[in-house]
Amino acid sequence: MLLEVQDLKKHFAVRGGGNVRAVDGVSFAVDAGQTFALVGESGCGKTTIARLLLLLEKPTGGAIRFDGQDVSTLDRKGVQGYRRQVQAVFQDPSSSLNPRLKVRMLLAEPLLAHGLGGDRTALQRRLLELLEIVGLPPGALELYPHEFSGGQRQRIAVARALALQPRLIVLDEPTSALDVSIRAQIVNLLADIQRSFGLAYVVIAHDLALVEHFSSAVGVMYLGAMAESGPSEAVFGTPRHPYTQALLGSAPRPDPDHPPAEGLIVGEIGSALAPPSGCRFHPRCPHAMPQCAQQEPVMRPMTGGDAGRAHRAACHLLDEGLAMAGVERVKDFAPTP
Ligand SMILES: Nc1ncnc2c1ncn2[C@@H]1O[C@H](COP(=O)(O)OP(=O)(O)OP(=O)(O)O)[C@@H](O)[C@H]1O
Ligand SMILES: [Mg+2]
Repeated sequence: MLLEVQDLKKHFAVRGGGNVRAVDGVSFAVDAGQTFALVGESGCGKTTIARLLLLLEKPTGGAIRFDGQDVSTLDRKGVQGYRRQVQAVFQDPSSSLNPRLKVRMLLAEPLLAHGLGGDRTALQRRLLELLEIVGLPPGALELYPHEFSGGQRQRIAVARALALQPRLIVLDEPTSALDVSIRAQIVNLLADIQRSFGLAYVVIAHDLALVEHFSSAVGVMYLGAMAESGPSEAVFGTPRHPYTQALLGSAPRPDPDHPPAEGLIVGEIGSALAPPSGCRFHPRCPHAMPQCAQQEPVMRPMTGGDAGRAHRAACHLLDEGLAMAGVERVKDFAPTP
């Protein structure tokens, strides 16, 4: 296991008192060379998790382990090593790439900062190699970010992320700011790069169709907590949490052999400042029962297998005791294939 996130929490104190529980006890694991996708509505805490992974925020609680080591225990050198191995690509390359720097400098900067530039010839060779990997011509080195299209700019951002030969890239909505017509090109590029270099990705995405085809495992977040996670084929094929079912039902599904699941998300997502009691989803859940308002459900394995990789969901309808008491109901909304 390359990355292990355990009971991760990030609370932000807000003016006027109170805490925004942006991330409130999230666990997941990412294997080397694999893609883990994080999905969920706006404000559920996805970017905060990305920022925690990139050490841009300090967790309020929980742990991030990389290669088995708790990153909070890393010394200065350890942090530098971690930053080299864990890179980022953000949604909008126009704001993540310094507009005053030519591509040559944008790509050389991370190498020089880590003392890995080598001599002039080695650096030049590496820069050309990076451009080739992302499908840009050598002439791109002498241009500024604004001289490229959005898709090309995102290719530059990917090249920059690859410069230090990382083992993990955190991608926060890498295609959302791009024209629909070129999203697939960037997704294919990312998939090719992953195959060539054995890279792991944590990808945050709104486009569920993209996630389904691109990721090996997925985590569905709701208001700072994980509602369901597991192998993509299990989560997409037999979603068990009512929120996942609603999310899949509301997403456009181009595949007619893959009809939308039952359910519709009604109402507004609650506030991370004062999340609903019990199950955070209960005010919007079509299956809510009295205990859903009282007790927070825990992530429960749906199948056997490795704890980190198992299909899990947090819903009282899936609790064993309730399953016994209300077989009809459980059968109704969580059919087994
Ligand atoms: N620095 C901060 N101070 C206070 N609250 C914050 C801060 N950063 C994020 N939040 C809050 O934390 C919650 C989660 O935000 P986050 O940006 O992680 O969500 P997201 O899932 O990435 O949403 P989106 O899909 O819109 O990008 C939100 O309620 C947000 O307002
Ligand atoms: Mg975000």
